[in-house]
Amino acid sequence: MHGRTTFRVTLWVIASLLSVACSEPAPARHAGDAERGLALLQAFRDSLPQHSGNALRCTSCHLDKGTRATAMSWHGTAARYPRYRARPGYEETLARRVNECIARSLAGRMLPEDGQEMRDMLAYIETLRALPRPPAVDSVRLVGVVASGEVGYGGQCARCHGVAGQGNPALNAPAVWGIDSYAIGAGMARQFTLATFVRHNMPLDHADTLTAQEAADIAAFILRQPRQDHPGKERDWPKGDPPADVAYATTAATAAGRPVPLERPLLPRRVSPDSLTSRY
Ligand code: HEC
Ligand code: HEC
Repeated sequence: MHGRTTFRVTLWVIASLLSVACSEPAPARHAGDAERGLALLQAFRDSLPQHSGNALRCTSCHLDKGTRATAMSWHGTAARYPRYRARPGYEETLARRVNECIARSLAGRMLPEDGQEMRDMLAYIETLRALPRPPAVDSVRLVGVVASGEVGYGGQCARCHGVAGQGNPALNAPAVWGIDSYAIGAGMARQFTLATFVRHNMPLDHADTLTAQEAADIAAFILRQPRQDHPGKERDWPKGDPPADVAYATTAATAAGRPVPLERPLLPRRVSPDSLTSRY
């Protein structure tokens, strides 16, 4: 009796393996599920606490589920990768690009690139592949005045993001500095990137009301506050070509005689970004 059961089970296993191996397309277990992917992008910390190092979600910055033209839209993103990027200094896959935002913008730990969660998130970004890229937004490339920015922040931002930048979960407003905010290695920790985002998207309920100078001042104030470190950041832009607003010194830029940026206050990292590839 027992022997026969084992035999049946073995046959069943062989049959399932054969059907998996022969079926087209790939088994559902491996296909990305866009709906689950969107849920992860919108609730990253709750869904993947081991991989999150702050209180942000992907859509804290990629507003309106990654569809807002002025907030790093994912329209057409899937079609742009693999793509050479100067920050890592090599051609990146889309999975690797997502992991960069996990390690830096979420101050988190990278995900396995062939795992189900990554596939699900990529499946959602894939649904936006055929949509046209929005026109580039007017970049705010001004020097900010910290003292004016402090006043501006208090008047325009603190009611949602808190006087200490800590955010307000009741309003769904995330931290803009401190331990629950993005790490120093994030694009949003750059003066021009933050000022441009703020100019076009904040205050959330009155977007497009700040002048470029007001946005630059507020960005300068926010970026003077402490945030989590990003270990290995000195290896960024290995060809020595960092943008002018990068917030930290890199080995290659220093060797090329580029000016060393003003030092920013840093907090110890909550979660290690992890070394998932030898190139990290
Ligand atoms: C703190 C803000 C912030 C958060 C949070 C964030 N990102 Fe980003 N993301 C950015 C910025 C800034 C860029 C750079 C845009 C650019 O290059 O102009 C970017 C770029 C990207 C790109 C490249 C888009 C393209 O068209 O090349 C992808 C993909 C991406 N992010 C995915 C994610 C995912 C997935 C998450 C969550 C796991 C996430 N991001 C969380 C700020 C953020
Ligand atoms: C009415 C409330 C509100 C006001 C006022 C407001 N924000 Fe936001 N902000 C939000 C919300 C909510 C999000 C996240 C959006 C989401 O998750 O869909 C956000 C996201 C952000 C982000 C990206 C995520 C992060 O935490 O860094 C930045 C930066 C930001 N706001 C800066 C500002 C600045 C600067 C001001 C003042 C000029 C401001 N905000 C005013 C509600 C507000």
